[in-house]
Amino acid sequence: MNTRASAPTGFVDCHTHILPCMDDGADSLPVALQMLESLHAQGVRTVWLTPHFYPYKENLNTFLARRVNAYRSLISAPGLMNMQFCAASEVYLSDYLFNYTDLSELCIGSRNSMLLELPFDSQPFERIYQKIDKLMSYFGISPVLAHIDRYPKIFQDKKHVEALVNLGCMIQVNLNSLSAGILIKRKILNYIENGCIHIVGTDCHNMGSRKPDFTAGISVIEKALGQHSVQQLILNARSIMR
Ligand SMILES: [Fe+2]
Repeated sequence: MNTRASAPTGFVDCHTHILPCMDDGADSLPVALQMLESLHAQGVRTVWLTPHFYPYKENLNTFLARRVNAYRSLISAPGLMNMQFCAASEVYLSDYLFNYTDLSELCIGSRNSMLLELPFDSQPFERIYQKIDKLMSYFGISPVLAHIDRYPKIFQDKKHVEALVNLGCMIQVNLNSLSAGILIKRKILNYIENGCIHIVGTDCHNMGSRKPDFTAGISVIEKALGQHSVQQLILNARSIMR
């Protein structure tokens, strides 16, 4: 199988920490360029740049100013791969978000899609659900839940995942989780097949322990569910960007 040949318009990596010196991702411009080079070699042609935004730690304007500087340094770098970039953020779901009147700068596309990181503590599902619902009604955003595979209590309970999809959320999975064991792989494939996982990403942070590995996970999806499922994931990502 040649996944690069099967995606003529190129893959979309919907979750990366490539913007240099923004968070715990790329710690220099050369590392950021290496990460992009690696993704390009794997057939990725569109990259969402999604540095962490922790609203309880940093003011929104300060974050946005840092992001502009990092983005400018990246896109003006000599040797930058020919790719499409989308400046966004991985936004931590926090009550501090409600201190603002407008969060659109953190979002992607005309539907104001926001890549949301859920709390990793033991908050009851109902509380998380209510916060997402409130975020949608306050700001008119369309939530895209980041790496659902990293929240076992939600991920393992199909009712929870379906409730979030029915609320209007799109859901992203980290591709490396498809190599994390047979049970998690089966679960992810089942969710993709049933329309509960909509987009994929590497969530890459560096060129070491969390490097950009797009191909391995995509190959698992293509082998199990066919090329049409891979194409649908690409279409979903592009539809968010419109
Ligand atoms: Fe992330």
